[in-house]
Amino acid sequence: MILVTGGAGYIGSHTNKALHAAGYDTVVVDNLCKGYENFVKWGFFEDCDFGSGDLREVFKNYDIDGVIHFAAFSSVAESVQMPQKYFKNNYKNTLNLLKIMREFGVDKFILSSTAAVYGNPKQIPITEDSELKPINPYGHSKFITEKALEREAEKGDFNYVSLRYFNAAGCDFDCEIGELHDPETHLIPLVLDAAIGKRDSISIFGDDYDTPDGTCIRDYIHVNDLADAHIKAYEYLCNENESNIFNLGNGEGYSVREVIDMCKKVTGCDFEVKIDERREGDPAVLIADSTKIHEKLGWTPQYDLEQIVESAWKWHEKMNKI
Ligand code: UFG
Repeated sequence: MILVTGGAGYIGSHTNKALHAAGYDTVVVDNLCKGYENFVKWGFFEDCDFGSGDLREVFKNYDIDGVIHFAAFSSVAESVQMPQKYFKNNYKNTLNLLKIMREFGVDKFILSSTAAVYGNPKQIPITEDSELKPINPYGHSKFITEKALEREAEKGDFNYVSLRYFNAAGCDFDCEIGELHDPETHLIPLVLDAAIGKRDSISIFGDDYDTPDGTCIRDYIHVNDLADAHIKAYEYLCNENESNIFNLGNGEGYSVREVIDMCKKVTGCDFEVKIDERREGDPAVLIADSTKIHEKLGWTPQYDLEQIVESAWKWHEKMNKI
């Protein structure tokens, strides 16, 4: 059985669904501070904080073979305001999880990492061996967690895969689960709020970047493609006695303006677009080179930006009908 921490959240719930479709049994551990119990539609559920001693009970009660670790805080802006919260939950609590895994002889671990470990990259597209220079506490908390995993693996009888996500987006095509952050800060759901009339307009954070249209470029990757990568990473840990780190992106960059235009096209709705100040800490361009995971694990993303927005829009319409 696989333990999925944070399985009631956005990426965790989509991966939990995909794991079941692939024939795996799971137990989700989530304290529901960000997640939703009704997103756990597959496998067992334990309402528990992964940083607490209660986690030991979960290991006692279930026959756990490996852990996929999503539970974390992930807002860059909040991390700048409250760095300790991020270091405690994302780093220190992960050490608690690793300690308990050791106690129970569980030797396979997958980490949700992030492109934020690269900071302002010198070269685009970004490969895994690019310099790691996080520019905010969120990226830093994941960076040091990766370092802790490296040391843990050096001790032996433990392997990990760290998956560095670029911009996770899109939703389950059946609309059983989706993206529901509170507060929402991500571009696509905010643009769709404008399309559906929940917001008057969308603001572009800066149009004076050194990019073709002046707005920031990001690499958007469908959450189901991320889910598929976790399954391939788990199979890799089962079959190979080694640890590894992979980027996860589509390898194609879209500017904020291009994303807004795609949302207008998919929804058929028009809305006001304003230009606002730059948001602190936003690198101009982040595009992944995901060649390594393609070659090593045979992972290829299936969905493009249009399909990402279509799936997000379907979910958005459903949520706003209720
Ligand atoms: N943006 C706007 N207006 C908005 C919201 C966002 O212009 O109302 C812009 C941002 O400035 C950025 C782009 O849209 O240029 C994407 O912003 P998101 O907030 O959707 O995503 P980020 O690229 O900031 O963050 C993502 C993940 C983080 C991760 C980071 C790595 O959500 O967890 O990538 O850099 F840390």
